[in-house]
Amino acid sequence: MIKSVGILTSGGDAPGMNAAIRAVTRAALSNGLKVFGIMDGYQGLVEGRISELQRNSVSDIIMRGGTILGTARLPEFKDLKVREQGVAKLQEKGIDALVVIGGDGTYRGALALHEMGIKCIGLPGTIDNDIACTDFTIGFDTALNTVLESIDKLRDTSASHHRCSIVEVMGNHCGDLALYAGICSGAELVITPETGYDELEVIEKLKALDAAKKRRHAIVVISEKITDVDLLAQKISKVTGFAGRSTVLGHVQRGGSPTGFDRMLATRFGDFAVELLCNDISAHCVGILENKLVSTPFEEAFDFPTPSRKKLFALQGRLA
Ligand code: F6P
Repeated sequence: MIKSVGILTSGGDAPGMNAAIRAVTRAALSNGLKVFGIMDGYQGLVEGRISELQRNSVSDIIMRGGTILGTARLPEFKDLKVREQGVAKLQEKGIDALVVIGGDGTYRGALALHEMGIKCIGLPGTIDNDIACTDFTIGFDTALNTVLESIDKLRDTSASHHRCSIVEVMGNHCGDLALYAGICSGAELVITPETGYDELEVIEKLKALDAAKKRRHAIVVISEKITDVDLLAQKISKVTGFAGRSTVLGHVQRGGSPTGFDRMLATRFGDFAVELLCNDISAHCVGILENKLVSTPFEEAFDFPTPSRKKLFALQGRLA
């Protein structure tokens, strides 16, 4: 039976991470466990920046974006010697279990720690929604709403000027943020890693929209890392009837107060993580599938097939 649990956040921050930290802390304290916060992810673990958390350490954070624990990316954590330093720091404090909040890379670190005798549970925290074995990750809904607020504003000015707005959103290699934002904003086109990218096809579609004379504007939502959106906008201005303008939303998508959905998700995930640890389960990640909490071994999560979004892409196409 575990006696104390450490919490860390790792990788890119996501709104709702604080709500998860709060839930883990309070659920663990209710179960008679000691709780420790580890600063700046695996970096702080290796450096021993660890302090005990009480119930009031996590007061008034459920509504705050970012993570009170800080976060970092530490590629060196793949190195056994570096991990050994982290395990030693945990042993010094008598910490026998960890809840890690982050993405795929965070889970890989946790799996390695589990193999070194530390019980670990992973919570999916990223705006990208790119984690297998869960329908939604903590932060995705808030980022989606941030994107929508911007696109709604861009639509006003685009319509006034007969412009085509190219809006680049984050997502790393996952198109969910672009796809959901495209559907919810009524965008004319959505381009993601899953759709592939053919510049000629995009131009032809925009020319057709302009020729139909029914659109005062066009919104194109595109995932990051696909093409240079400034150049695309220039091309659109040159060869279609629309004036092209590009907007890269950038890190604004990672900030802000979490939505009710994200606070709820994070709270349920955090509480469930503690329940799993108390039942002696380790090396699992928590998720939600069809509104039911599930836990999946890390290894299976890595192999899990990426869910097909065919129906959502078809929906976007039909209603655009
Ligand atoms: O994983 C979250 C994310 O915001 C991605 O969408 C994006 O590609 C990446 O992190 C940006 O990383 P950084 O904040 O290190 O620039």
